[in-house]
Amino acid sequence: MGSPHAKPQDQPPSAPPQTGAASDAVAEPLVKIVELQTIPMPNGILGVAEVSKHIGFPVHRAYYIRDVPTGEGRGSHGHRALRQCFLCLRGSVRLSISKAGRTETVELNRPSQAAVVPAGCWRDLSDFSHDSVIIVLASDEYDEADYIRKYDDFLRWEAGDEPVTSTPYLDLKRNSQMVAAEMELAMRRVIRSGRLIGGEEISAFETRFATYCGADHMVGLGNGLDALVIALVRRSAADRPRRSLRRPRTAPAGCGRAWD
Ligand code: TYD
Repeated sequence: MGSPHAKPQDQPPSAPPQTGAASDAVAEPLVKIVELQTIPMPNGILGVAEVSKHIGFPVHRAYYIRDVPTGEGRGSHGHRALRQCFLCLRGSVRLSISKAGRTETVELNRPSQAAVVPAGCWRDLSDFSHDSVIIVLASDEYDEADYIRKYDDFLRWEAGDEPVTSTPYLDLKRNSQMVAAEMELAMRRVIRSGRLIGGEEISAFETRFATYCGADHMVGLGNGLDALVIALVRRSAADRPRRSLRRPRTAPAGCGRAWD
């Protein structure tokens, strides 16, 4: 099967995102169009893209595309984990993005506008104007292993149907790659807040995780051993008279409160 964007010319110019599924009315758009900060000055125009306000992921690479011959396209590949933010600094270009059976097409023709594309999408770039200059901000450094070059392979990857040649270990790297951008932003917020223990981030996580687990409360701990010790103490406190609890000589210092 060919890429879903074989005839991008069929899309109207400057169209809002075009979608393919009936339920799209309520779905979040795949491509997020953001307006960058623009500061016009007598001596030129300054455009600003900030990670937290506009881009939404930490940027680890920037590359640009220019001098694309008329009629040529670029892209035509998928990325497993990479997120990208496309800016058309000059001229115009058409960007088509597909994921989970949906396709959205946008025309980028203003330098103050950026298209933010999430992980796990197929992309095609077409209709480059002769003067176009595109800059791409990417969430990771170049890694050919993140590419899926054939559309059929992309569909197989989406369906979780990739051929398995051996029984793999649980791929922790793949799991964490999918949320790496959120983790990096959260770590940055915590480091910048100067509060490394407790604080708003931990409280918010405890509340959300409690809701997720259907529990009334959730308490973040330093490690799994703390959690086991506290759970066991709590259980024996419920089963036995309170005076039978004793702090073991070997209890790690951090567990002190649990035994008191
Ligand atoms: P590719 O990503 O396929 O280009 P496009 O999506 O614009 O069509 O990359 C083209 C070639 O350039 C390919 O051989 C990989 C190489 N490349 C890098 O070495 N580093 C990079 O950061 C990028 C984007 C590509």
